[in-house]
Amino acid sequence: MIGKKMEGALNEQIREELGSAYLYLAMAGHFAAEGWDGMAGWMRVQAAEELEHAMRLFDHVVERGGRVKLHALAEPEAKWASPLAAFHAAYKHEQHITACIHGLVELAQKENDHAAAAMLQWFVSEQVEEEDHTLKAVQLLERVGSEGRGLVMADRELGRRVAEKD
Ligand code: FEO
Repeated sequence: MIGKKMEGALNEQIREELGSAYLYLAMAGHFAAEGWDGMAGWMRVQAAEELEHAMRLFDHVVERGGRVKLHALAEPEAKWASPLAAFHAAYKHEQHITACIHGLVELAQKENDHAAAAMLQWFVSEQVEEEDHTLKAVQLLERVGSEGRGLVMADRELGRRVAEKD
């Protein structure tokens, strides 16, 4: 049976992951409206992954006899000044999520919740990838600059991303 503290913290993280999906969907909509189909696709894949992250936490709470409580999601931005600005915001967001995950690991240790600690290890590794993917996109966009031709190439490159299976 999951403890109340851990249950509450995981419900909060479900909100964070769903909020991440919401943010990346907003970015997907923004890129689609601006005609950047590759980057829109990248963000759609990312949003789908975030939903999976939320469901991993959801399942853990349920499997341990806890109660899922879904909290309200904040409304994300709808526009970004440039592709680089959007991907930079995504990178910053992933750093925030990493800090959340590390906080959860510390709580699991404090609570002697070995089951949650084991489940959260997957997220620790996943966050290394999440930061890496978003930072690589930022670096690509920094390299190509804000001119049309380079951005078209970057859009094509980022559009190659396909859903990854864990
Ligand atoms: Fe679920 Fe992008 O962290």
